[in-house]
Amino acid sequence: MQLEWSNGELSNFRRRLLRWFRAERRDLPWRGSRDPYGVLVSEVMLQQTQVETVRERWIAFMERLPDLRALAEADEREVTELWAGLGYYSRARRLRELARICMERHGGELPRGAEALGALPGMGRYTAGAVGSIAFGLPLSVVDGNVARVFSRLFLLRRNFAESAAKQEYWALADALLARRAPGDWNEALMELGATVCRPASPDCAQCPVRDFCHARREGRQDKFPPPKKRKATVEIQEICLVTVCDGRALLRRNAPDDWCAGQWDFPRFNVAKTDASAIKLAKSLGLRGRPKELGAVKHTVTHHRIVRTIYALKVKSTPTTLAENATYTWHETDDLEQQLHNTLARKTWRLFQERTSLERNSAF
Ligand code: ADE
Repeated sequence: MQLEWSNGELSNFRRRLLRWFRAERRDLPWRGSRDPYGVLVSEVMLQQTQVETVRERWIAFMERLPDLRALAEADEREVTELWAGLGYYSRARRLRELARICMERHGGELPRGAEALGALPGMGRYTAGAVGSIAFGLPLSVVDGNVARVFSRLFLLRRNFAESAAKQEYWALADALLARRAPGDWNEALMELGATVCRPASPDCAQCPVRDFCHARREGRQDKFPPPKKRKATVEIQEICLVTVCDGRALLRRNAPDDWCAGQWDFPRFNVAKTDASAIKLAKSLGLRGRPKELGAVKHTVTHHRIVRTIYALKVKSTPTTLAENATYTWHETDDLEQQLHNTLARKTWRLFQERTSLERNSAF
């Protein structure tokens, strides 16, 4: 879509939105300074998490790991713990990797150029645009879900930003509207408008500084924009998962880097569709003796995947040497196992195991 405004309209639009933002912006902890590292941490946290959840987590994170050096030197466990409650833990891992690269290649600072920023781990177009514009004043635009909703209503955009074919249209608009003299405030103003006024349900148009420009409002069709995302068909995934206990400790395996919930601890498992193995074969492949006992199944839905995990229990008397502690496998005390499990499905697995094995009289566990 081409922006069909005159220069006068465009500068009027920018002036109204910027004036509104400077008067009404929320007092958020990361807005106190323009410390690039603080801005980066806030933007990565905000990618998939609500502002109210991020508030406290950001303060705690910055207290413990106040700069890139501290983050680069922190151990992964500490970073994961500080990320608790925010979800999508791969963000935390990538942030630490980013800090290490900045220490090694950029003199311990975030690089100030758009290209170098965009090349860092976890820096998609959104994050590079937000950090570059807010921390360094670079003329980079941003589009997130909030900005996309504002655009869709302003210009009656008929495709949802989530559709890959629509992305270009939204980014082109963001570039055309960008107030290049104040890109950071501009981007934050658009996001703020979407979050607080141009809300998904019942937008507060009376408070909107740019309501006169809005086509959806003019037609009274705010509730029809943005159009709903096209739903992807649900894919069912069948898993087999083995909970092995030995002398008060349970066997955990770290998810591979290309797996979902990469880097997080879970119980050894596999996708049934990808192999024809059974729980017995899984145990054998790990060097474990004994016959796993089926306990039941847990279900979990993530985006359009529905995972059905059948859980098997196995008790062993000794741990095979092939499963000595290493980066992939660990034997963790069962007493505080739940704290070690950061993904919902692993926790559901452990709860079902506890429930079923404690119900059995003379349980072997
Ligand atoms: N959402 C993500 N980043 C934001 C920011 N800097 N201001 C307002 N909302 C946001």
